[in-house]
Amino acid sequence: MDRIIVEGGRRLSGEVRIGGAKNAALPILVSSLLTDGWNTYENVPRLQDVRSIQLLLGHLGAAVEDSEDGVIRIDATGLSDPEAPYDLVRKMRASILVLGPLVARLRRARVSLPGGCAIGARPIDLHLKGLAQLGADIDLRHGYVEARADRLRGADIYFDIPTVTGTENLMMAAALADGRTLLRNVAREPEVSALADTLNAMGAKISGAGTSMITIDGVEALRPARTRIMPDRIESGTFMVAASLTKGDVTLVDCEPDHLGATIDKLRLVGSQIEINGRTVRVRGPEAISSVDIKTLPYPGFPTDMQAQFMVLMSIAGGLSVISETIFENRFIHVEELKRLGADITISGNTAVVRGRARLSGAPVMATDLRASASLILAGLVAEGVTEVNRVYHLDRGYESIEKKFSALGAAIRRVS
Ligand code: EPU
Repeated sequence: MDRIIVEGGRRLSGEVRIGGAKNAALPILVSSLLTDGWNTYENVPRLQDVRSIQLLLGHLGAAVEDSEDGVIRIDATGLSDPEAPYDLVRKMRASILVLGPLVARLRRARVSLPGGCAIGARPIDLHLKGLAQLGADIDLRHGYVEARADRLRGADIYFDIPTVTGTENLMMAAALADGRTLLRNVAREPEVSALADTLNAMGAKISGAGTSMITIDGVEALRPARTRIMPDRIESGTFMVAASLTKGDVTLVDCEPDHLGATIDKLRLVGSQIEINGRTVRVRGPEAISSVDIKTLPYPGFPTDMQAQFMVLMSIAGGLSVISETIFENRFIHVEELKRLGADITISGNTAVVRGRARLSGAPVMATDLRASASLILAGLVAEGVTEVNRVYHLDRGYESIEKKFSALGAAIRRVS
């Protein structure tokens, strides 16, 4: 199994190109199930999670063509098998996104329940409640969700909690339902808007994405479309934190600053200088990092997917920082590993109190979640000596060539098989 070895202490400088967003690519690739014909997707990141969704779509009967230059083409004319098996779903929870499209297209679906995960319980009850309100009969049997509907009918659906993939699942199902669907209290994440744009390019009638209420007027059929995947805001934020941590001077190219509001605001409070110029963002890290408090919230609040990376920054800040995680109940799994590097962190419930220290010191570490693993690489960049990050496959799920990108910025980092 691969490991990443980082020697801390290098100041990062130079340019880094931000790749396509994992969490936009996954639902957008799945939307190909809603139509016959070849859909084309550009700027698709080469990630393990993208490979997992390609495998799943292939399993369901879609034809998938993958060229090396980030272009993927998918034709679901041959969609035949409505079953997403446990083996594929357990590797990636986002597989649940096929549920809505399968019911809309094949009138039935059998999708393995994703089960628990390292960052929390992560139920899918809101996906199921919404689909039932669209008229699907839903049973849970032998670890699978079984859903059937001769015809989905538009409905007025309220989400108790704004859920990103729940909103996406329902939006895809409602695109082919009879009549109007209202989705209330939905997720406002940019990835939801990106999916709505793709569905509209396919002929869907969706408005309001990016606000807390989405209206969908169902259509008889959709047609294939061409989509460019938007830049990854979490990869962007991760490199911005890296520049800030190392007193670096890093320019992010091909990113979308509009999606980074909360992250940029917090980094400026930390002392980083941030210049925005179109799709380019230059980040210069401060000589001394100031501590700030963080509370994760649904978009446009501070992203839970940036919490672990920010905690590293706070662990070498000059003061005390309170970090509250309100989205996932177990998303502090990086804390024990950061403590092994010398960080001073106390957890009480969903709150972490971080007392900034002058320095961290390298050690072997491991994490069981994607963003937690990224935070350990960041910690390795500033820790004295060598940090060895194990279980790198979590990183490969969501960051493309992370060690190559850091290395090009001057980090002493390498992958060992
Ligand atoms: N929730 C429910 N019931 C549901 C669905 C969600 O109670 O039916 C709860 C969750 O337990 C959580 C909250 O609602 O407390 C929000 O979860 P959400 O459904 O929005 O999360 P998700 O759609 O499963 C996506 C991203 C995550 C990201 C979260 C929050 C994708 C593929 N995944 O997950 O990304 O952390 O939104 O922004 O879009 C990552 O990339 O590392 C990652 C974990």
